[in-house]
Amino acid sequence: MLQAIQIAPSILSADFSRLAEEIKAIEAAGADMIHIDVMDGHYVPNITIGPLVIKSLRKVTKLPFDVHLMIAPVDPFLKDFADAGADTITIHTDAGPHVHRSLQFIRSMGLKAGIALNPSNHPCEIEYLLDTLDQVLIMTVNPGFGGQKFIDSQLNKIQEVAKMIINAGHKISLQVDGGINKTTAHQVIKAGADILVAGAAVFTGNAADYHKNIESLRQ
Ligand code: DX5
Ligand code: ZN
Repeated sequence: MLQAIQIAPSILSADFSRLAEEIKAIEAAGADMIHIDVMDGHYVPNITIGPLVIKSLRKVTKLPFDVHLMIAPVDPFLKDFADAGADTITIHTDAGPHVHRSLQFIRSMGLKAGIALNPSNHPCEIEYLLDTLDQVLIMTVNPGFGGQKFIDSQLNKIQEVAKMIINAGHKISLQVDGGINKTTAHQVIKAGADILVAGAAVFTGNAADYHKNIESLRQ
């Protein structure tokens, strides 16, 4: 395995009554970034948090905020999430009418731009977005909830996107999100992923276990 693996704990599985403490605990445990799942109850059947909460969490850690927007339409809210302290913003291919423009806008604010593919999305959907991308997120569950089972058919897609990224000619991270545990981590790393999002697998046990949980995914 040549690629350096980064672990992005998803705070969706953290104790929301103690979010600041949970974030400090995963930072101390060796997390590389904080994955923040934003859901609107419209694009996905769940509602989580918005820019106000992210802004208050920004004071808690120096780790990059990797903000995964599961909202549509996404364009009216991009600036709010940038102002709240996002370092990377990832949007879904069907989050607006002109996602190439949305990605350009994210970059114009000085942030990294990511695109997410749902399990049903074909990798060809990002072929003409590669020039505007810093990150591709492959969903290995249907978005909306933590703790779901990894969908095996997505492994081929990870391999296909890894090839597309090599040909893109600039650095694009390949992130995988959903159902990541020790077993699936091995599979997705082998397929070419270099950032692993993990919720349930990291936030299991108590804070003293988080370091072990993170390292077990890094392989
Ligand atoms: C699902 C979210 C994921 C989720 C991952 O819509 O995008 O980030 O929190 O959770 P696990 O690792 O528990 O599948
Ligand atoms: Zn996510």
